[in-house]
Amino acid sequence: MTKIVKSNDLNDAAKCLQNGGTVVFPTETVYGLGADALNEEAIEKIYKAKGRPSDNPLIIHIADINDIYKITKNISDDAKKIMEKFWPGPITMIFEKADIVPNKVTAGLNTVAVRFPSNETAQKLIKLSTRYVAAPSANISGSPSPTSLKYVCDDMVGRVDFIIDGGNCDVGIESTILDVSGDEFKILRPGAVTYEDILSVTDKIKDDYKDVKDVKTPKCPGMKYTHYSPNADVFVVMGEKEKCQRFILDKISNKTQKIGVLAYKDSKYDGADYVIYAGCDMKSYAACLYDSLREFDDNGIDVIYAQFENSNGIGVAVKNRIFKSAGYKIIEV
Ligand code: TXA
Ligand code: MG
Repeated sequence: MTKIVKSNDLNDAAKCLQNGGTVVFPTETVYGLGADALNEEAIEKIYKAKGRPSDNPLIIHIADINDIYKITKNISDDAKKIMEKFWPGPITMIFEKADIVPNKVTAGLNTVAVRFPSNETAQKLIKLSTRYVAAPSANISGSPSPTSLKYVCDDMVGRVDFIIDGGNCDVGIESTILDVSGDEFKILRPGAVTYEDILSVTDKIKDDYKDVKDVKTPKCPGMKYTHYSPNADVFVVMGEKEKCQRFILDKISNKTQKIGVLAYKDSKYDGADYVIYAGCDMKSYAACLYDSLREFDDNGIDVIYAQFENSNGIGVAVKNRIFKSAGYKIIEV
């Protein structure tokens, strides 16, 4: 049975982690599904609860910067600078792994992903547990990551021991993943800590993230699986606001199915079956994206048109997630 507890009531959940159980907890990005990273049986429970393929490695969460030296090896000075600047916060770094980290966590890789979240509840839970906490996003594999209690419960009640109610996640999309294990640093997954942010600390990073549709052997194993997809069919409509509006309104006036619109900036969509307003900048778009996709499903929507505009900064990450949600069905207007 799954126990749902408030964020000021963490003792039993921390004990559960110590005893090899599973706990869903809030972070500033999305909810995570945690277990003791050094306990292989506990790690197996994560893969089972998510229905996640075992070749997709997990991020280890820490709440004390000194712990990084116990689970990794050979940290470069430039990687340390990034840690100092952005931790705690929404960036995960890939390091050479220390021997104590089980292969089950890293899916056999000799590197390990580590993150120090800024969310207070996450930090308190990790500290109370006195464990390193491996945690993927707390969704069933393939679905959008949950960023509110409702959608955590939809996916995880009955599959985990504890769920901690931490309200809504601030950022709304998963952390930036930066590979710092080689001489050149590389963004494997864009997020709220941007290329420009990292470049302000080190020039070991050469290029911004490039979305590659068909990567045969992705460096980030998770990237080869379908991702962030609601049941509804998603189309991304890209271009100037007025042109997007015209295209989508035309679809609405000829509709044969229930149409939902994820609207951006001050666009109006009279006649749509369900409209969610993503705000007027990419930060608010990120914050509502995953919950919106699930909300369209809750309202029986068949087709979602997501209005989108290219931008840099966190816009690179929003683009990456929304393109994947749409299975790369992109309409340029
Ligand atoms: O914001 C986040 O990062 C959230 C919260 C809970 O911290 N976690 C998260 O975990 O998004 P997950 O498992 O859903 O995504 C982690 C990604 C996967 O695509 C995985 O393949 C990749 O990180 N990854 C993990 N370890 C790796 C490694 N050693 N090398 C390359 N990629 C790795
Ligand atoms: Mg995930």
